[in-house]
Amino acid sequence: MISSEKTKQFKILAFETSCDDTSVAIINSDFKVIVNLISSQTTHKDFGGVVPELASRLHLKNIMQLTQAALTNAELSFEDIDGIAVSVNPGLIGALLVGVSFAKSLAYGLGKPVIAVNHMLGHIYANRIENPDLKPPYLALVVSGGHTELVDFKSMNDFKVIGKTRDDAAGEAFDKVSKLLGLGYPGGPIIDKIAKNGNPDFHQFPRALNRKDNYDFSFSGFKTSVRNYLASKNDEFIQEHIADIAASVQQAIVDSLVSKTIAFAKKSDAKIIIVAGGVSANSLLRNEISEKGRDIGANIFFPALEYCMDNAAMIGAAAIEKYQKNDFADLSLNAFSTKGIRIL
Ligand code: KG4
Ligand code: ZN
Repeated sequence: MISSEKTKQFKILAFETSCDDTSVAIINSDFKVIVNLISSQTTHKDFGGVVPELASRLHLKNIMQLTQAALTNAELSFEDIDGIAVSVNPGLIGALLVGVSFAKSLAYGLGKPVIAVNHMLGHIYANRIENPDLKPPYLALVVSGGHTELVDFKSMNDFKVIGKTRDDAAGEAFDKVSKLLGLGYPGGPIIDKIAKNGNPDFHQFPRALNRKDNYDFSFSGFKTSVRNYLASKNDEFIQEHIADIAASVQQAIVDSLVSKTIAFAKKSDAKIIIVAGGVSANSLLRNEISEKGRDIGANIFFPALEYCMDNAAMIGAAAIEKYQKNDFADLSLNAFSTKGIRIL
């Protein structure tokens, strides 16, 4: 249901449970985050990746406590909340269902509207928290553990996916290489840190689909190439050059992301480029896209570091516009796992 826009101040209580972080936030209509609590599930470390069933159970265990803590920290009560936002897709279906069921129950019990948010849209809107006046049109590079999408974004209801990964996501590439190197999960922040002391030209890993007018990404060949390279070296060599290998890996991933984003920005004469998702925390990506973006006269935006990874504040940020337009879901709302950014 969409009707006339609201202009008065309001507060959104938001939930994010799409993967392995349970997060509850309260944000007001000026994009000011009042509270943003994240409970990151460490259980999965023992398994080398997220175990969906464990993720759902932990969301269930944490969500009520986290909600109460959010209200207490904010010195607010349920009566002060105007709308309830929740990420509905994409993600692990069992994990999403916890957030969606909880949000719907609260909405029903409190008589407040519920707002369905696409998680990727949430990542994009994380940029509004630091820059409330940042408005589309812009080119958005959304890079997370499960997604890599280049989106020509005109509005929440009008955007086009220009390119996406044909196999692994950029964050997944960082995570898998980190695992091959025995460095742990999530791999992105670890490789980012180690790479600072390494030589990015130490080894040239492949940059896939490096053709003009091709804006898709691919990281599976790259991953195989890293695996083959490591298999050809002994442990001593790998340990001695771990920083160089990490720097070369990071350079290859960042080159692929930046070259395609800048090529499309140039072609479409984009004035604003925004980067979003967990990988937008990467220091090399931030430096390179800022520099190359400046060269073509585009303004570049990233979320603040604390809003790059999964968090409920970004889900609340994406819900603000929907609340203003009375774009509410009804209680038949369901979670679904289908990949990618989409209109809900
Ligand atoms: O957006 P996000 O928190 O979760 C998903 O929606 O997938 O992204 C998580 C991903 C992980 O793959 C992680 O390794 C990556 O973001 N990541 C990074 C950095 N920080 C997080 N990748 C590269 N450099 C970083 N500094
Ligand atoms: Zn995410």
